[in-house]
Amino acid sequence: MAADIPENLQRRRFLTAATTVVGGVIAGLTVVPFVRSMEPSVAAQAAGAPIDVDVSKLEPGQLITVMWRSRPVWVLHRSEAQLKTLKDPKLIETLKDPDSKEPQQFGPPVVNWHRSLKPELFVAVAICTHLGCIPTYRPQIAPPDLGPSWVGGFFCPCHGSRYDLAARVIDGSPAPLNIPVPPYHYRSETVIRVGSLKGGKDQNWQPAIW
Ligand code: FES
Repeated sequence: MAADIPENLQRRRFLTAATTVVGGVIAGLTVVPFVRSMEPSVAAQAAGAPIDVDVSKLEPGQLITVMWRSRPVWVLHRSEAQLKTLKDPKLIETLKDPDSKEPQQFGPPVVNWHRSLKPELFVAVAICTHLGCIPTYRPQIAPPDLGPSWVGGFFCPCHGSRYDLAARVIDGSPAPLNIPVPPYHYRSETVIRVGSLKGGKDQNWQPAIW
C-alpha cells in the first residue's frame, strides 16, 4: 500500500526513477521507436505540458514511446488476442491489484479491466513501481526466459518485476503497484493528448508512486 511506504523510500524511488529514466531512454532508442509528439514545443514539453500523439498508424500489437514530463510514456495498440489475456481468470488470480484500487491511474474512466479509455489503446508511464527502471515490452507468448505462463506483458530487467498487458503487477514481483496511467483524452479518433483531461484538467496529477 502506498500509504505504508516510508517517506525516505519514496524519495529514493523518485531519485532512482529520475536517474534511471535518463539512462533508460537512451537504451530504449535501440529497441523501441520513439515518436516525436505533434506539439507543443520541446521547451514546453520539458516543462510538463501535455503532448499530442498521432495513433493513426499504430498497428495491433505495436508499441511506441513518447516523452511527457521528461518521462517515457507507452502507447500500445493491443490486438484482440492481447486483450483476451487480460480477462483470463488464471492471469487475474496472480495480480496484486487486479481491479486497480490503488491510485495509480487518473480516475474512474480508466478503472476497468483494460485500464484505458478504449480497450485497444493503452497509455501508461513506463516506470517500474519498484525502483523506477523502465520495463521492456515483451509480447511473445512463453519465451524461454519468462516461462510457459507468460502471455505477454512488460518485464522489468532490473529486479524481475512482471506486469500484464494492462501494466498490472503480477504477484511475486518486487514492484508493489500497477504502473501509472496518466491523464489523457482523445482529441480526435486518431490523436490523443497525454497529460490532461478534456478542457485541460488534471495536468498536475501524480500517482501514488511516481
Ligand atoms: S526497478 Fe523494476 S523490478 Fe526493481
